[in-house]
Amino acid sequence: MFVILVIVLTICIASFSSEAANHQTETCNVLDNELAITPPMGWNSWNAFETDIDEKKIRQIADAMIDSGMRDAGYTYLVLDDGWMADSRNGDGDLVADPNKFPGGMKAVGDYIHSKGLKFGIYQDRGHLTCQQLPGSFGYEQADMNTFAAWGVDYIKMDSCFAENNGRLSSEDYTLYRKCITKAGRPMLLSISDFGNGAWAWAPKNMAQLWRTSGDIYPWMDSVYYCADTSGGNHSIHPAFNGLWQFAGPGHWNDPDMLQVGNLANDVENKAHFSLWCILAAPLMAGNDLRNMSAGVKDILTAQEVIKVNQDPRGIQGYKVYDNGDHEIYNKPLQDGTTAVLFLNKGLETADITVNWGRIGFSGRQKVRDLWARKDLGYYKDSYTARNLGRHGVMLIKTGSPGTPLPAPKPLPADKYMVTKKGTTYLSDLYYIWKNGNVPQRDKNFNDNLITIDGITYDKGLGCRGNSKIMYKLNNRADTFNAVVGLDDSYNHDETGRFRVYNEDLFGNRVLFDSGDIPKGSPAKNIDLNVRGVNCLLLVFEGDDVLGNWADARVFAID
Ligand code: GAL
Repeated sequence: MFVILVIVLTICIASFSSEAANHQTETCNVLDNELAITPPMGWNSWNAFETDIDEKKIRQIADAMIDSGMRDAGYTYLVLDDGWMADSRNGDGDLVADPNKFPGGMKAVGDYIHSKGLKFGIYQDRGHLTCQQLPGSFGYEQADMNTFAAWGVDYIKMDSCFAENNGRLSSEDYTLYRKCITKAGRPMLLSISDFGNGAWAWAPKNMAQLWRTSGDIYPWMDSVYYCADTSGGNHSIHPAFNGLWQFAGPGHWNDPDMLQVGNLANDVENKAHFSLWCILAAPLMAGNDLRNMSAGVKDILTAQEVIKVNQDPRGIQGYKVYDNGDHEIYNKPLQDGTTAVLFLNKGLETADITVNWGRIGFSGRQKVRDLWARKDLGYYKDSYTARNLGRHGVMLIKTGSPGTPLPAPKPLPADKYMVTKKGTTYLSDLYYIWKNGNVPQRDKNFNDNLITIDGITYDKGLGCRGNSKIMYKLNNRADTFNAVVGLDDSYNHDETGRFRVYNEDLFGNRVLFDSGDIPKGSPAKNIDLNVRGVNCLLLVFEGDDVLGNWADARVFAID
């Protein structure tokens, strides 16, 4: 930790001399970055209790974190999720604890948590109400961050319910919180909860330490795999990225939501879930009732060698090197020159899964250690095969020898997914950075034919089938956005379609263009927008199974 601090300080001091002092304090805050140099570990009340929390229960959980060995295994944050606050603010406009659930107030809760050598986390929402319709922080940003600092809060989960009424972009909201936290004068980790609406696209590294990549996780495997795929797979980003790994690193992590380990059907599932979160360098926020967990669940949550993969100081998020739909292999190069490899069988049939050393940058004979069994397995030439993995079965190995770290994986170059050049850039030539619903075809209508609107054909553009939302990163680099929109001439049903362009995500609710409902046979509409200062542009096409096109969709950069 000391070495990291010295390195970070040196970088800060070096760049300090060349940049304006004001700018410097905002973008290089050593204290903040030190908070999540490795993915945060702790416990959060939501998955176990939802809003059914009170003083006694939270104290019991704090005690259980010590007695079960969770704290010593690295779980330090105890986070109270939604439901801790009274249903209105006090006469001074300050947040107060629910007097029935927490009669001693939140400062006392925090003091108890701290007295156990743990850190205190709390939930709020950037809308005027939380998701449970309790008082939110909108309009009280600085006051609430001051209150949290006074209570000794160390970690803030900031949710997004009702944020579409704020009149601010998500990036503006979270930048505001970052500033309010700095002003409140206490290092507090900021965890963005936006249900996976693309925070990695618009959140610069220093805005928050964590951002959600998914909707809520539930205690069944379909949900666990869905959440894992929002971070490790292509659920919400162009497949060329191979998941979101390139957006994570020390101080800033993709968050596929909190753990359901202990809440799943059995320990095979619990182990698969935990292994995935570890290889994905995800925050490890336990979500089970720690007061009565089984020995099996405790062994999974506290498996030191598995946790070490998650907490590796190099901070590379594991990425998929193989996926045939049923069988997956992830690779996570570690600081010491070895690498962690996860084999996962999602299929119904028991299977053997083989990794060829070539896929993970190795050759020849390599040493293999089984991290769950804590056993050296010997040397293997050219490949290793995990045998007899049943449904949801996993094997997690460490392979290679200590020495020079393996080369880091190559991120997708900026010009493939951002506007980087002067002149015209067609959006169909960029990889999208976030999507929801149907993915448009590039330079074709959705059925793979030419884009045709009102008798005119277009060579370039995006051919959609509703509903489709797709975000491109303009990176504040473009001046104008132009497109011709309309239903595709091949569409011959009677639903209407609607085109909308947003600055950034849906929460910002910053609509730059709205076509209104367009029936079949309508003339094309021209879009000509000023997009100066727009970082991310969101194109939304609505209409159930309707075919519609963003023909000639392009941006122009003057210089
Ligand atoms: C959801 C959030 C959950 C939980 C819940 C509380 O929006 O994703 O993790 O915090 O709100 O109401």
